[in-house]
Amino acid sequence: MFGRIARRYDLANHLLSGGTDFLWRRRATRIVEQWQPRRVLDLATGSGDLALALQRRLPEAAITAADFSPEMLEIAKRKGVRETVLADALHLPFAAESFDCVTVAFGLRNMADWNLALREMGRVLRAGGHLLVLDFSLPAGALRPAYRFYLHRCLPGLASLVTGQKEAYDYLAGSIEKFPSGKEMTLLIKANGFANASAESLTGGIATIYAASR
Ligand SMILES: C[S@@+](CC[C@H](N)C(=O)[O-])C[C@H]1O[C@@H](n2cnc3c(N)ncnc32)[C@H](O)[C@@H]1O
Repeated sequence: MFGRIARRYDLANHLLSGGTDFLWRRRATRIVEQWQPRRVLDLATGSGDLALALQRRLPEAAITAADFSPEMLEIAKRKGVRETVLADALHLPFAAESFDCVTVAFGLRNMADWNLALREMGRVLRAGGHLLVLDFSLPAGALRPAYRFYLHRCLPGLASLVTGQKEAYDYLAGSIEKFPSGKEMTLLIKANGFANASAESLTGGIATIYAASR
């Protein structure tokens, strides 16, 4: 599915989020910067926007960008991501404790087994290393019904105009509904070997950044 939408993925992201995705990745990058990591793994890097932002903000750090879609990685490379690795997040080809920081933006939700994925992230992180997960969530309160309407009724049609792939965006709405968020997600992260898990809600709760340490 990601291979099919790869070519139009960036355009669809920026149009359908009204450019807010830039702000979310910028906030994620600022958080990672505070940790001062030397070796960062950006998992499910897709077309590489977070990896690129990290490369720019942390010029001294080694940023490895991994994804299991060759089509997505090709685009990331073309955009300037320096180190790309074709890899499945559920079976990472890296030794234990290879990284100081693992980031995953809009990726964990799409993985077949969230627990296994989080444990793999923990395995490749050094003790004391940091995890950052950025993903969609459902806003609470009055915004929730309006957002759900947009998600289920408007987004798939609009996205199919941009990408020609309506099913991928029907899938997106369903996956956001099923994905744990807020406290539930911090508990899932802790249950998989992390400490100090916190959640920061963005844009009224449409997205959330989770941070934790190993
Ligand atoms: C919605 S895109 C997110 C891309 C990028 N991180 C961003 O912020 O735009 C999700 C990406 O996750 C990748 N992905 C999903 N499951 C994966 C897995 N098990 N291993 C590696 N990549 C995976 C897909 O190939 C896709 O590129």
